[in-house]
Amino acid sequence: MRKTVGENGLVVGVDISISMLRYARRIAKKYQNVVLIRANASSLPLKDSYFDGVFHVGGINTFKMQVLAIREMFRVARMGAKIVIIDEGLDPKLRNTKRGQKLLKQNALYSSLPPVDEIKKYSDYLRVEWGILLNKWLAFWPYYLSRSEKNPRSLGHAS
Ligand SMILES: C[S@@+](CC[C@H](N)C(=O)[O-])C[C@H]1O[C@@H](n2cnc3c(N)ncnc32)[C@H](O)[C@@H]1O
Repeated sequence: MRKTVGENGLVVGVDISISMLRYARRIAKKYQNVVLIRANASSLPLKDSYFDGVFHVGGINTFKMQVLAIREMFRVARMGAKIVIIDEGLDPKLRNTKRGQKLLKQNALYSSLPPVDEIKKYSDYLRVEWGILLNKWLAFWPYYLSRSEKNPRSLGHAS
């Protein structure tokens, strides 16, 4: 994120957990323009239409207030901003294969789907990609990546 915004941009990282923020702080402390805040994703203490991009990874599948979290992501984004959401999910095309069945048994979250209906309330551009990463523990991590864009459709919803 810091590389993307450069020296003059600002990165604001959000998590509700103090221990997760402490962990992130160890990585972020060398940058002046990376700010970490403790907040609930369903009610962000951040201005409307402020950010050029919103990047969320690894939480939305388990959020009870998924609808509110997505509304907040779009609220804080400026018009035209990119909203990228990544979380666990196995490509539906692979779910009935032998390998797919094995993965689905390993982790119930792999059956998650991207929250497309919710995103479509705020964006008429939406692309979903599916992939499988090999993580540092050499385990497979199937994921979805959704790219959307805040556009005028958002006006009716995000206030
Ligand atoms: C699987 S971890 C992913 C952490 C980090 N985004 C990453 O990719 O390494 C899920 C994170 O969601 C955070 N979380 C859960 N509920 C939240 C909420 N309501 N608001 C903000 N963060 C939340 C947890 O504290 C946890 O750090």
